[in-house]
Amino acid sequence: MSQQSPTDRPPTTALVEAATTAGQAPSVHNTQPWQWRVLPDALELRMARSRQLAAADPEARLLVLSCGIALHHARTALAAEGWIAMVERLPDPAEPELLARLSGFSRTDLDPDAMRLVQCMRIRHTDRRPVSEEPVADSAIEEITHAVTAEGSRFQILDSDQVMELAAAASHADIVEAEDPETREELAYWTSRAGTGTGLPPEVLPEQAPQTTVPARDFGRSGSLPVGPGHDRAAAYALLFGDEDEPESWLRAGEGLSASWLTATRLGVSMVPLSGVVEVDSTRQILRELLAGIGFPYLVLRLGIADPAHAGPPHTPRLAADQVVDTSAVRGEHG
Ligand SMILES: Cc1cc2nc3c(=O)[nH]c(=O)nc-3n(C[C@H](O)[C@H](O)[C@H](O)COP(=O)(O)O)c2cc1C
Repeated sequence: MSQQSPTDRPPTTALVEAATTAGQAPSVHNTQPWQWRVLPDALELRMARSRQLAAADPEARLLVLSCGIALHHARTALAAEGWIAMVERLPDPAEPELLARLSGFSRTDLDPDAMRLVQCMRIRHTDRRPVSEEPVADSAIEEITHAVTAEGSRFQILDSDQVMELAAAASHADIVEAEDPETREELAYWTSRAGTGTGLPPEVLPEQAPQTTVPARDFGRSGSLPVGPGHDRAAAYALLFGDEDEPESWLRAGEGLSASWLTATRLGVSMVPLSGVVEVDSTRQILRELLAGIGFPYLVLRLGIADPAHAGPPHTPRLAADQVVDTSAVRGEHG
């Protein structure tokens, strides 16, 4: 059987591959709240409301952010294969579920930077163990920050006073969420999905709460990931934020988060999102005050160097491509 080279593939095959590659994107609680549709001349991204966190994320902020990560993964996969695409975000006001449409494809050179980021998609993962004592280099922070700003959002490293405020806010958010039966039930659902390709398996959740200044999310159950005696002294905490608090900004923030997380992976920096503080209204307001009114907070991120001496957690499973990529409109055209 002859293998087509990347330069003579029909676009629909490239589109199916890009949407499939985007399945590796991280999402809140590994909900993978996206649905792709491949058309003869376009690729559409819709939110999958059935996998929204109705209790923790009623406004769909984290859902749209997660879809933005998948969008950037798909864009990058296309660029790596030498495809330029026009991207329309929220293209149809009558259909708010349609988050993006990629179309107007044209050929260019294969993009080596994008190829490197595609390799990073395969190794990137969330490592919830405490970080090592080695601080993240300033040059790495600069590159990670630039990756966010290049996608139109902003990224601010918190100073030590702000980290103390974050610590108090994160611990308060944990209490509020633990006291809310619906959020508790939702968390229990997404942490007991073994074998479904969604949610968080015990292997990626800490055996016990790590001893850190900023508390990690309390998943309401312990997992089997050994955490050791480490701390978060050498971690940097950052806020991902932007000018507006609306779906298009959340989508772009997701694209920026993808770019920065893949860049961090390339640089050997571990990134862990902390979303409890943005899920709870009162603590999201505290983050807004931390920003002194210059923007709206979307997500907190912990940056650090993972413990090099021990293996990290395994990869978190994903849904099969045919569950999130609809190819019915191009059947027979690709393959
Ligand atoms: C928007 C968003 C919010 C997240 N919030 C948290 C969080 O609060 N705590 C945490 O430990 N992981 C958080 N994560 C990490 C996800 O649980 C993780 O990406 C997902 O389970 C897939 O695993 P992987 O990143 O190892 O591929 C978040 C991820 C995203 C994209």
